[in-house]
Amino acid sequence: MRNAVMALAGLVFVALAAAAIFLALKQPEGPVSPAAVNIAGADIGGPFTLTDQTGARVTSAALIDGPTLIYFGYTFCPDVCPIDVAVMASAVDLLAGQGFEVTPVFVTIDPARDTPEALADYAEAMHPGMIALTGTEAEIKTAADAYRVYYARGDLDDSAANYEMNHTTFTYFMMPDGLKALFRNNFPPEEMAGEIARILSRD
Ligand code: NI
Repeated sequence: MRNAVMALAGLVFVALAAAAIFLALKQPEGPVSPAAVNIAGADIGGPFTLTDQTGARVTSAALIDGPTLIYFGYTFCPDVCPIDVAVMASAVDLLAGQGFEVTPVFVTIDPARDTPEALADYAEAMHPGMIALTGTEAEIKTAADAYRVYYARGDLDDSAANYEMNHTTFTYFMMPDGLKALFRNNFPPEEMAGEIARILSRD
């Protein structure tokens, strides 16, 4: 099962990479950072309604009302998510230092455990400006599908509550009119901030 999951995740990645290369080649104007994947115009993103860490309902339109970084993960993640969320938080701080306000957003793909209360603690620990979102299984699936996020419960150990989730690990840079950049796992925060500053300076 895990092999199938990883194969599917690999296929999704290959498809995204192919789309990114195709779109990058179609955009001769402006340098495309070799460190970032420029997939402006790709069919990623879409409407969703979720619940934030205060319990308030949030629509994607209200959420993405300006420059926004979005990451899909889960608070119990032992290794990958903490790194990527820390990268996102660091990039947001670097950009703030340059006068660019970017909202960091964390969307759980593990709503069974990531309640608003759990997300409140997580967001507080990760970044003071972070918006952390959960919802019903169906609401999370709608959001994840819109962003081409793959996720599934991983192998179980002895404790049914102590499971891991397999999931894709991209960070999405969104503007109200859509996706502007996609960053891979463990992306250097300085380069992420630089790429976003370049995009925001150009617009
Ligand atoms: Ni994770």
